[in-house]
Amino acid sequence: MICIHILNGPNLNLLGQREPNLYGNRSMSDFLVELKQRFPGHAIELFQANREDALIDLLHESAQKAHAVVLNAGAYTHTSLALGDAVKAIDIPVVEVHISNVFSREEIRHHSFIAAGCIGSIAGFGLESYALAVQYLVGLTQKKSGLQT
Ligand code: DQA
Repeated sequence: MICIHILNGPNLNLLGQREPNLYGNRSMSDFLVELKQRFPGHAIELFQANREDALIDLLHESAQKAHAVVLNAGAYTHTSLALGDAVKAIDIPVVEVHISNVFSREEIRHHSFIAAGCIGSIAGFGLESYALAVQYLVGLTQKKSGLQT
């Protein structure tokens, strides 16, 4: 069984209510139910923190408990050198995701402090960005460990 942690940063606890024109009407907990159904037999666990230090602690903990991380660091993506360092400091694969297409938004959102430490980045596919990242990381982990679904 592959264990993937989804780590959400600031304000992402308000998905479904927050700027629905950008982030949609669906809550993350609702989408998580669907994700678990789409990846049966794997452990997909969701964590969220509004504070930068708490998000860094979550990353450190995930490195001990999970095979891989899907990270939506929210606005800390564009501001936090410490979070970028934390991604580089852990030795499990991390995929950066964004719900919105950050490259079609304000210029400050075009830069990511975490991208360099991630395997890759997925942005602009709505909540499906998370599913694409999980799909990739399940395949990668299976390939690395010879695990079967
Ligand atoms: C976001 C994009 C960020 O720029 C923004 O600060 C967020 C959400 C996204 O998922 O599209 O909080 O990470």
